[in-house]
Amino acid sequence: MTIAPPDLSVFETLESEVRSYCRSWPAVFDRAQGSRLYDEDGHAYLDFFAGAGALNYGHNNPVLKRALIDYIERDGITHGLDMGTTAKRAFLETFQNVILRPRDLPYKVMFPGPTGTNAVEAALKLARKVKGRESIVSFTNAFHGMSLGSLAVTGNAFKRAGAGIPLVHGTPMPFDNYLDGQTPDFLWFERLLEDQGSGLNKPAAVIVETVQGEGGINVARPEWLRALAELCKRQDMLLIVDDIQMGCGRTGGFFSFEGAGITPDIVTLSKSIGGYGLPMSLCLFRPELDVWEPGEHNGTFRGNNPAFVTAAAALEAYWADGQMEKQTHARGEQVEAALRAICLEHPRLGASYRGRGLVWGMEFTDAEQAAKVCRRAFEHGLLLETSGPRSEVVKLLPALTTTPEDLDEGLRILARAVRETA
Ligand SMILES: Cc1ncc(COP(=O)(O)O)c(C=O)c1O
Repeated sequence: MTIAPPDLSVFETLESEVRSYCRSWPAVFDRAQGSRLYDEDGHAYLDFFAGAGALNYGHNNPVLKRALIDYIERDGITHGLDMGTTAKRAFLETFQNVILRPRDLPYKVMFPGPTGTNAVEAALKLARKVKGRESIVSFTNAFHGMSLGSLAVTGNAFKRAGAGIPLVHGTPMPFDNYLDGQTPDFLWFERLLEDQGSGLNKPAAVIVETVQGEGGINVARPEWLRALAELCKRQDMLLIVDDIQMGCGRTGGFFSFEGAGITPDIVTLSKSIGGYGLPMSLCLFRPELDVWEPGEHNGTFRGNNPAFVTAAAALEAYWADGQMEKQTHARGEQVEAALRAICLEHPRLGASYRGRGLVWGMEFTDAEQAAKVCRRAFEHGLLLETSGPRSEVVKLLPALTTTPEDLDEGLRILARAVRETA
């Protein structure tokens, strides 16, 4: 594809240096539908990024768009703090009937501010309040958000350095498969917990992603997650699963921990819970942990009512009949087969792949190779980003609604990009 240089001048002169995605993808996007974005000159881009996981049902999904337009046209409430609204009631009832009850999950639902990090801050604050302890354990290469509490349990040194103040009360432990594969799981963690001389303050909670998205698509084994849940119970620590990126069906089941058969004490959801890409987040917890005083944690943008409308519509459309999970696993097998073939084609690159459901990563020994692949893929009309501590992993995060044909097209572009940069 030949792309005429887009007019990026206002971004380059007025927008802060902190901007990032518009540097990786120098285009000015104008429209989007399903798995494709179009720039202002009409060039199409296949999207294997899906709003960093906020667009699991694709761009401008017609079912959700209809519900949203109808709601706006009838002057439904847009802004409502945490007032009772018909949209909030409909969302809560649908969430209970379609998601919580069939999974036998007893959670209460809290609406923090609309971003992922808002949900994480609420979860950490609640855990500390319930247990009366300040320390939280997180894992190597974790990513939980950019506000200070979330950064304190995030691994990435570059992101942490941005805080400008000490990030305290978080202790990192090795994630699954971080060590040599020989050391028994949680050996170090449990030893520190039991040794009165270890220097580890007893944690209020442990926060974990079942698949680390930003950390490089590191997939925790179900048995590791089960052992973690048991350890938390034995040691009286709350287990928080941060399902902001891996929830809402990304790994197959609605919650990413379902396959492991664990029930976390607290769960955070955001990104695709709003369905349409509208900001919304949830903090879910066991009813006995609901020790909040009214208004003790609040925020002006908790009640994003248009997001409640599209969230409820997405749950009805995609989760009421149980088909989504099977479809995601089938699509995941298609991605896995393609990644296996690419790795076999280029043994010299020492690339490997890993993933679950529709989140996959291809790791290159040379991190620069991952960046080159993403750049070349963009030139061929495919949006892909990197992740991992050295940005050494090409991350594939297509919408769950991507057709097998579109998946195939994107995977062929990826194969071509690897071939052309090898
Ligand atoms: C697991 C996880 N937690 C928290 C966040 C932060 O979400 P937000 O960027 O909406 O604050 C992210 C964002 O990528 C995430 O992947």
